[in-house]
Amino acid sequence: MTIRATVKGVGHYLPDRVVPNAEFEAIIETSDEWIRSRSGIEQRHFAAEGQMTSDLATRAAVAALADAGLVAGDIDAIIVATSTPDLTFPSVATMVQAALGMTRGYAFDVQAVCAGFVYALTTANALILSGQANRALVIGAETFSRLMNWKDRGTCVLFGDGAGALVLEASDGAGTAADRGILSADLNSDGRFRDILYVNGGTSTGTTGHLVMEGKEVFRHAIEKLAETAHHALEKAGLTPDDVDWIVPHQANIRIIEGTAKRMQVSMDRVIVTVQDHGNTSAASIPLALSVGKARGQIKPGDLLVTEAIGGGLAWGSVVLRW
Ligand code: UT7
Repeated sequence: MTIRATVKGVGHYLPDRVVPNAEFEAIIETSDEWIRSRSGIEQRHFAAEGQMTSDLATRAAVAALADAGLVAGDIDAIIVATSTPDLTFPSVATMVQAALGMTRGYAFDVQAVCAGFVYALTTANALILSGQANRALVIGAETFSRLMNWKDRGTCVLFGDGAGALVLEASDGAGTAADRGILSADLNSDGRFRDILYVNGGTSTGTTGHLVMEGKEVFRHAIEKLAETAHHALEKAGLTPDDVDWIVPHQANIRIIEGTAKRMQVSMDRVIVTVQDHGNTSAASIPLALSVGKARGQIKPGDLLVTEAIGGGLAWGSVVLRW
């Protein structure tokens, strides 16, 4: 018998304010046509003034708990993947813990930027497999609108706010790839590339700072590394791209999503795509896509999913799981 971390529930939250591409035409030299054709993005959601990452994370967590038929007291660990915490510390996860009324267990954040959810899932899986938690809430939550330089048209049109959450639970498996739950993971980072995507604030400046990106360079790395990490994760599970029901990619750019699917020789009708509606929500994009994919009736129990993501660091990785 093998322990598997299986998905018991999923949920998401998007702030009310929807910002179509056309809104940017009034503040910078851009067009709906450019944004759509270069990124696939049509709109994104922005958090309201005073609405924090922890608020979004809590709403997603409540939705995931309801989907799982569980209450906060059933949860042993909360992991929040975010690069936009309300405060430098304490963690967003402890804020969610308090908001849910959970007074036991433990909560902490994981910071691996756009790859954050893949890192958080892998961490939660390790905690469940080692007996440190029976049930874990894994949340990706971001308010990237607060990191934007509104004069930089190369970045400010690309990002959005939102949150998604999964409830994982320890279950018995047979130890084969037919098991439900997390089957394998592949994590990577290479700090030599830290300067092509970063935020120019923090303790060094005493400010929050703004996102700075060499888009073309990040694009090049994404195309090269995402299919590779997905292949590695599949290999570790003894699977091939033919076995995949759904690629659930980080939603940064439709051209990256299509390029990765092509390299994996998986057709686009087996890829969950939400980038047009959410923009790039960093660590929130994969759990948002999982939640929306399930709500659309695309992702069904027993489906084999591959998630893959890359972002600042550079940090990238992939998780293979059976829904
Ligand atoms: O999630 C974290 C990982 N991040 C990513 O995965 C993002 C990766 N990068 C990308 O998605 C793409 O590189 C972008 C969408 C950021 C840019 O697409 P691109 O095809 O690489 O365009 P580019 O940066 O080469 O820019 C082409 C042109 C430039 O003009 P010139 O120099 O050719 O005259 C830009 O100044 O488009 C211009 N441009 C814009 N024009 C209208 C850049 N941003 C805009 C804009 N509106 N918003």
